[in-house]
Amino acid sequence: MPKAKAYAAASPTSGLAATTIARRDPTDQDVAIDILFCGICHSDLHQVRNEWSGVMPTVYPCVPGHEIVGRVTKVGSAVKKFKPGDLASVGCLVDSDRTCPECQAGLEQFCPNITLTYNFPDKHLGGVTYGGYSSSIVVDERFVVRVPANLDLAGTAPLLCAGITTYSPMRHWGVTQGKKVGVVGLGGLGHMAVKFAHALGAHTVVFTTSASKTEDALRLGADEVVLSRDANQMAKHTGSFDFILDAVSADHDINAYIQLLRRDGNITLVGAPEKPLAVSAFGLLFGRHSLSGSPIGGLPETQEMLDFCGKHNITADVEVIPIQKVNEAYERLVKADVKYRFSIDMASLQSE
Ligand SMILES: NC(=O)c1ccc[n+]([C@@H]2O[C@H](COP(=O)([O-])OP(=O)(O)OC[C@H]3O[C@@H](n4cnc5c(N)ncnc54)[C@H](OP(=O)(O)O)[C@@H]3O)[C@@H](O)[C@H]2O)c1
Ligand SMILES: [Zn+2]
Ligand SMILES: [Zn+2]
Repeated sequence: MPKAKAYAAASPTSGLAATTIARRDPTDQDVAIDILFCGICHSDLHQVRNEWSGVMPTVYPCVPGHEIVGRVTKVGSAVKKFKPGDLASVGCLVDSDRTCPECQAGLEQFCPNITLTYNFPDKHLGGVTYGGYSSSIVVDERFVVRVPANLDLAGTAPLLCAGITTYSPMRHWGVTQGKKVGVVGLGGLGHMAVKFAHALGAHTVVFTTSASKTEDALRLGADEVVLSRDANQMAKHTGSFDFILDAVSADHDINAYIQLLRRDGNITLVGAPEKPLAVSAFGLLFGRHSLSGSPIGGLPETQEMLDFCGKHNITADVEVIPIQKVNEAYERLVKADVKYRFSIDMASLQSE
C-alpha cells in the first residue's frame, strides 16, 4: 500500500507532528494526487483540539486539512475527468452514497452518508480518513474538482472550503447588485465572503473586531467597514441589511446583527463556535427575520465557484508557510492574526 508523509495530532493538546500514513491503491474510479498546497481552516483547529466533541468527536491520530490543491499522479481505468499531470483539488468531502435525492441533486453536502475528508470512517482502509496535511491523497473522481489554469495555487487551496462555504449561501440567498450584504469576521471565510459579495455586485459591509483590518477590508472589496464593538457605528445600520453572513469562530452576540436586518432579511451562520449562541426571539419576530446555517457546498457548485474565481481572478490572500510552522499558525489563528489564510507549502514536508 502506498505511504504518505503527514502531520498529525496525537491528542487535543499535543499539537501536530510528522508521521507516516497509508493511502489506498487507486481503484478504477480514483485519482491519486500529490498535494502541493493545503489551506489551514479554523475547522482544522476546532477538530484537532476536539472542540466539537459533542457533534463530531475527534479520533486520534488526526490528520486535518480539507483545502487541497495538487497534481494528479495516477488515475484509475474508469476515470474520465483527469489524467496524470493535471491540476486537481479536493475539499471537505471525499465520498457520499451517490444515490439519495441530495446526491442526485448535486447537493452532496446534505447526503446522510457522506465521508468527510478527515476524521470520518474510511470505507476503504478502516479507521478514519486522513486529510490534506500530507504529501498525497487518493480520492474518487466525483469528489475531485478542476482548477482554472490562471489561478495562483497557494491562494486556490482555500477556495475548497473557505471559498465554497461563503459562495454557496450567497448564491442561495440571492446576493446580487442592489442588495446590502454584511460579512461578520474578517478571517479566512470572511475575506472570501467580501470578495464574492463585491464580485456579485452587492453593497458590502464588513463587521470586524480588529480596527487594524479596516484598510484591508476596503482593499478586498468592502464598501464600508464597521467596528462591531462600537455601538454607535452599529446603530447607524439598524434595519438595513438584506443578508448577513456570520463567519465568526468564537462566542459572540448574534442579536446585535439580527437587529441590523431589514424586513424578511436573513442572517446565515457559517461560523461554528464551540458553544451554542443565545438568540433573542424578539429580534427575529420583529421584522420577520430569519436565521439559518449553511455547510460547505456540493460538488457541482464547488466547480461553479472555482470557475467563477477563474473568470474573476479571485483567490484567497494567503500567508504561505512550511508545515513545520503549523502549530505556530494555530496559535495565531486563535488570536485572529492571519491575513487572511495560511496555506501550507507541502514541499516542506519532504524534509521530514
Ligand atoms: N459552515 C461550514 O461549512 C464551515 C466551513 C469552514 C469553516 N467553518 C467555521 O467558520 C468559522 C470561521 O472559520 P475561519 O477559518 O474563517 O476562521 P478564522 O480565519 O479564524 O476567522 C474567524 C474570524 O472571526 C472573528 N473572531 C474571532 N474571534 C472572535 C470573537 N471572540 N468575537 C468576535 N469575532 C471574532 C475574527 O475576525 P475579526 O478580526 O474581523 O473580528 C476572525 O478573524 C470557524 O468556526 C470554522 O470552523 C464552517
Ligand atoms: Zn474548512
Ligand atoms: Zn447521498
